[in-house]
Amino acid sequence: MSKRTKSSRRPLWVIVLISLVCISLIAVYVYPPKQYASSCYLLSSKVCGHLEYWLPPVPTRILTDDELTARVITKDILSMTKVPSKSPKIAFMFLTPGSLPFEKLWEKFFLGHEGRFSIYVHASREKPVHVSPLFIDRNIRSEKVSWGKISMVDAEKRLLANALQDTNNQHFVLLSDSCVPLHNFDYVYNYLMETNVSFVDCFADPGPHGAGRYSERMLPEIEKKDWRKGSQWFSIKRQHALILLADSLYYTKFKLYCKPAMEGNKNCYADEHYLPTVLSMADPTGIANWSVTHVDWSEGKWHPRSYRAKEVTFELMKNITSIEESVHVTSDSKKIVMRKRCLWNGMQRPCYLFARKFCPEVLENLMNIFSNFTVF
Ligand SMILES: *[C@@H]1O[C@H](CO)[C@@H](O)[C@H](O)[C@H]1NC(C)=O
Ligand SMILES: *[C@@H]1O[C@H](CO)[C@@H](O)[C@H](O)[C@H]1NC(C)=O
Ligand SMILES: *[C@@H]1O[C@H](CO)[C@@H](O)[C@H](O)[C@H]1NC(C)=O
Ligand SMILES: *[C@@H]1O[C@H](CO)[C@@H](O)[C@H](O)[C@H]1NC(C)=O
Repeated sequence: MSKRTKSSRRPLWVIVLISLVCISLIAVYVYPPKQYASSCYLLSSKVCGHLEYWLPPVPTRILTDDELTARVITKDILSMTKVPSKSPKIAFMFLTPGSLPFEKLWEKFFLGHEGRFSIYVHASREKPVHVSPLFIDRNIRSEKVSWGKISMVDAEKRLLANALQDTNNQHFVLLSDSCVPLHNFDYVYNYLMETNVSFVDCFADPGPHGAGRYSERMLPEIEKKDWRKGSQWFSIKRQHALILLADSLYYTKFKLYCKPAMEGNKNCYADEHYLPTVLSMADPTGIANWSVTHVDWSEGKWHPRSYRAKEVTFELMKNITSIEESVHVTSDSKKIVMRKRCLWNGMQRPCYLFARKFCPEVLENLMNIFSNFTVF
């Protein structure tokens, strides 16, 4: 009896032992020791490709509640299947202190294309006097805007919120009172609507006007490597407009830690950093990294070049419309010039659809030559 029990127990022990070995092998396979994971980053992705496939992602840090929420919402907005709009429109959003000197020129641009655009005007200082019927009743409730302060971003968000109410608006262009169109309406409409990217100026400037404006108080959500700079004049897709309006986490960081004259003499201008930083974190390949609004900084002054009546000729406008490279210059002593071809859906195209800054006096000139230079 006892002999029998002994002999029947022996194989049981062997089975248990083999099972234990198997389980631990599986465990090592599924949850490998950390050094395997980190050594993977040292090897080429080809060698590690299959490893990474089954390795759990190595979190660099634990996300905060707000960060996790922001990521989930962003991911969902970006993966939403677009409801096809019956009559897709572009929202032209004018951010201006008062009256728009180029209303008549814009009217020329818009006429004949009703149903394919909507206009919104945020006049932050005084009630504009409209000279074109297209602009009448297009003012939204506005608030005071201070240059370089968060109130600028607030005005941009206010314009977006108003324009998003119309579900036919699929693309959102921010323009100023000194902006003019460089092409005819059809060209602009097709350029913006037939691509999936937003045109947001964005680059990593290691100099004092870029990385120098970053504050460590932005941590942990915004690391220095994520900090970007770019002109505020954006042209964005509906999903990116939604991401900006859904965001309060990053917005609050900018509101608190990116403002003029903070931390001693350090200046930070939220309108030059908020959009490029947040959108390049949320959807890096969804933005073109250049703005479709041209501006000339080549004079190296505090303000960009302002074109006056005698300079505004057919030749000048032709020159601006034929630029096919976007240029960024670092603000450090090296002044590195970074040139990039403007690729639209992978094809070389002119970079710009709009331009600034034009003095009000150039209106007559532009009205005369508009049909000429927008032929191209
Ligand atoms: C835009 O994205 C949609 C859906 O992902 C795709 O079908 C379409 O081809 C894209 N268009 C362009 C111009 O890349
Ligand atoms: C824009 O720059 C980001 C880096 O900030 C890069 O990942 C992305 O591919 C760039 N987009 C395009 C269209 O080149
Ligand atoms: C236009 O571009 C050409 C070639 O770059 C330059 O020589 C000319 O001065 C420019 N004209 C104007 C009006 O900007
Ligand atoms: C515009 O084009 C027309 C026809 O080509 C020409 O007669 C006219 O002189 C041009 N005007 C200007 C200001 O270039």
